[in-house]
Amino acid sequence: MSKKLRMGVIGTGAFSLYHLDGIQKAKNAELIAICDKDSERLAAKAEQFGVETTYTDYHELLAREDIDAVTLPLPDQVHAEIAIAAMRAGKHVLCEKPMALDLNECKEMIKVARETGKELMVGQIGRYTPAFVKAKELLDAGVIGELFMVESEYAHDYTGKFGTDGWRKQPEREAIIGGGCHAVDLIRMMAGNPEEVFAYANNFCQKDWPIHDCSLAIMKFPTGVIGKVMNSHGCKRAYTMRSALYGTKGTIIFDNTSPYISLFLERFTENETVKDMHQQSAEIRIPITLANHNATAEVQDFVDCILAGKPVPTDGVEGASTASVCLAIVESFKTGNKVTVDYNF
Ligand SMILES: NC(=O)c1ccc[n+]([C@@H]2O[C@H](COP(=O)([O-])OP(=O)(O)OC[C@H]3O[C@@H](n4cnc5c(N)ncnc54)[C@H](O)[C@@H]3O)[C@@H](O)[C@H]2O)c1
Repeated sequence: MSKKLRMGVIGTGAFSLYHLDGIQKAKNAELIAICDKDSERLAAKAEQFGVETTYTDYHELLAREDIDAVTLPLPDQVHAEIAIAAMRAGKHVLCEKPMALDLNECKEMIKVARETGKELMVGQIGRYTPAFVKAKELLDAGVIGELFMVESEYAHDYTGKFGTDGWRKQPEREAIIGGGCHAVDLIRMMAGNPEEVFAYANNFCQKDWPIHDCSLAIMKFPTGVIGKVMNSHGCKRAYTMRSALYGTKGTIIFDNTSPYISLFLERFTENETVKDMHQQSAEIRIPITLANHNATAEVQDFVDCILAGKPVPTDGVEGASTASVCLAIVESFKTGNKVTVDYNF
């Protein structure tokens, strides 16, 4: 392989901006060609990013021997088909989240990655959000003691934002799988794999979408930790992933859009001088660099791993595990039953 990772991007819709920008900023990456079945969107992105070679058929881009890897900012429904075609054509893949909308497709993607030896990374971009990284660092360092509860929210009003040709409001694309997978992945990043989930859901805000636009799931982990995930694709508040880690010695409250995370520590509750008027522990604010949708770091990590011959961090099994928790939540709110999560990949 050349010293630079030669890359292509398939899909030039809204989120491709982050991929194209990430590739152009990445050290040791070169953007060779882009593709979209819509020639107008394709031409607009080609002009914006100065790309000379474009295709409206992804097979033609994949046939190029001078492309080592592709990124796929494509509708969720075609992730599996195009990721599989790319790996079979000898390309490493950075596929957008959610990995796929169906567990069989996830399993097939993992199988093809194993067969071809190509790296398959799922773009769980929250892994690069500075506040989440800092919260995980504090947790792993034992700052809040033993974790006993974790919660996360994905609150994003998607009114009017249903994706090109309406892919976001198809019945198979439940909100908890689509956007909600960010909150589920955050929970997994912090506490590992939940073994069992139970959920309720409704639809008050996107009544013309044949999905559940709001859901609340609780879960338990093999460690005894318990968790909660809220997802809403219609709630009227700022787009945020408000999250919390509760430990025996402290609590961390954080999100993806605030310039600080809040830390509450046990020792402050024992010290009368720092108790506030409500006799609660004082808040310590830790400044955080704001970098939500940190595609620059995500793409750089992908490029570095491929060039170094190292496995990518959020590989197919990681992406499928997050998708599997989301699908278990859907099964639970549809059946009214507790559901054991399938991690058999
Ligand atoms: N990581 C994040 O935080 C984040 C944020 C937004 C979107 N996303 C994900 O990114 C993906 C794309 O979302 P978007 O908002 O850019 O969607 P979009 O609808 O704006 O763009 C999708 C593009 O894919 C093209 N396309 C569809 N089928 C194709 C095919 N067979 N061949 C070539 N081009 C094809 C469409 O013409 C369109 O231009 C989705 O999976 C979405 O879930 C991730």
